[in-house]
Amino acid sequence: MSYEVFARKYRPQTFDDLVGQAHVSRTLKNAVAQNRLAHAYLFVGPRGIGKTSTARILAKSLNCVKGPTVTPCGVCDPCREISGGNSFGVFEYDAASNTQVDKIRELIVERVKVAPSPGYKYKIYIIDEVHMLSTSSFNALLKTLEEPPPKVIFIFATTDVNKVPLTIISRCQRFDLHRIPANLIAQHLQFIAGKEKITLEAAAAHAIARGAEGGLRDAESMLDQLVAFCGDKISESDVLNVFGFTSEQTVIELTGRILSGQTPDAIHLLHEQGESGKDMMRLMADLIAYLRDLLVFKAKPDALSEDVDPDVQKSLAAQAALIGTDRLLELIDQFAIAEGRMKWVPNKKLHFEVAIIKAIQTLGQATLDEVIEKLAELRDGKSVVSQNKSASVAAGVSPASRNTAAGTAATTVARVEEKSAAVDAESIWQRVLAKIPAKSFLRTLSESVRPIGTEGRDFLLGHAPADKSKIEALASQNNRRQLETLLRDATGHDWLVKFLPKDGIVPMAAEKPAESFKDDPLIQEAIELFKAEVKS
Ligand SMILES: Nc1ncnc2c1ncn2[C@@H]1O[C@H](COP(=O)(O)OP(=O)(O)O)[C@@H](O)[C@H]1O
Ligand SMILES: [Mg+2]
Ligand SMILES: [Zn+2]
Repeated sequence: MSYEVFARKYRPQTFDDLVGQAHVSRTLKNAVAQNRLAHAYLFVGPRGIGKTSTARILAKSLNCVKGPTVTPCGVCDPCREISGGNSFGVFEYDAASNTQVDKIRELIVERVKVAPSPGYKYKIYIIDEVHMLSTSSFNALLKTLEEPPPKVIFIFATTDVNKVPLTIISRCQRFDLHRIPANLIAQHLQFIAGKEKITLEAAAAHAIARGAEGGLRDAESMLDQLVAFCGDKISESDVLNVFGFTSEQTVIELTGRILSGQTPDAIHLLHEQGESGKDMMRLMADLIAYLRDLLVFKAKPDALSEDVDPDVQKSLAAQAALIGTDRLLELIDQFAIAEGRMKWVPNKKLHFEVAIIKAIQTLGQATLDEVIEKLAELRDGKSVVSQNKSASVAAGVSPASRNTAAGTAATTVARVEEKSAAVDAESIWQRVLAKIPAKSFLRTLSESVRPIGTEGRDFLLGHAPADKSKIEALASQNNRRQLETLLRDATGHDWLVKFLPKDGIVPMAAEKPAESFKDDPLIQEAIELFKAEVKS
């Protein structure tokens, strides 16, 4: 027996076989049962979700020798012919194929008037990708639809409904078929695996389902390929390796590192994925899809219970608590823009990196809501610097002077120089630097500052005034938090880092040409891009 691909072998034969389109099959079953048929149907939706299958099932329901029936027998002549796609009573055309375009016009004008073929109750025209018809064909079709001949039914399918003339759409009963939820795809793959005596790991089925993005035909084709490559035992890692997908756990891990502001770790993970040959576009799409799930989860925690497995559900719950809805929306927007940009550039990983850095920076900035809240607190006379207040008071600095605005910086620096004698800031800073992974973004940024002393609990880092944009990146809440943690580890007490522009500061990076900022073309390009994004 010749090999038949799964997508064909497992074409649904009855309404009940259709996966994930219950809203369509229910309505069509009722229409058949009650004999309330439209003259034209329009099935809308992306490829591989059941449009052609549904059209054939409807055609069989109407033409089965036992019909019209909602459960076509599948064995009579019309049923078998229609299933095979080579029926004399049901005509299938593909408007996307050049060779058929002329035939379609001819059929609409001429043949439609002829009575159904012997053995057929209805003459059915299935026209795929109907939006591709020529204007003259649309006009011919329109005439026919205005005065439909008896016992003739048109079934149109399209992946691009916006290109179908409204005059046609308005004469059809329209059904929008949905992308199929990943859970249902995974289930269906297990059903096929069972029939084919294939052992398919649950995580493997899920990985395929995620990769198929709602298309069951794509999922089945992937399963075909996996069987060809891996035989009858398929594991998650087979799926990830064959298609260059990243595991869902890795996507969750990456999200975690982003949400907790661990820039170097997030970038490191990205590099690992890149080095093991993962597809960066795919990973970006997975990341966005996961963030979107997170958004849905925040709005309605049980909305995804059908679509994701319990482990993922747990991660969603944990991570949803780490980020506000506004922020999450912003992040998704940013990554979506980066995804668009990545399509056109050769170095996708670089753009991915920049997107991650930007995202983490965004997370560290105050939202408008937060600012408004703070302003309201100010107006109500509450302290806005509660967290830093004790430190400032201890250092004898008023809260207002805690900002690093250039105007106040000079006087602060002057005061620093008298007060900082006791602590050897330079050696502390060296210990901190040693703890930051070499070549990480945080390390590179940190090397553009020099410790200039301490003041109370402030650890003062000077930078060349020209390095302003680098310092803005370094001063993000998350980077600062990391530096402060490292400072505490190095000294045993708490510090607040403070950045001061100061003439004559030589960045550490400039002293070590091998690790210089400017020597690494990737970093250089990232900074270029980065600058373009930083608001000044
Ligand atoms: N909703 C579905 N239920 C079951 N199988 C499906 C479904 N959608 C697609 N398939 C699988 O994909 C194959 C192609 O589906 P098809 O109906 O031709 O999709 P479309 O016309 O939307 O591109 C089918 O033969 C079947 O194996
Ligand atoms: Mg089709
Ligand atoms: Zn039949």
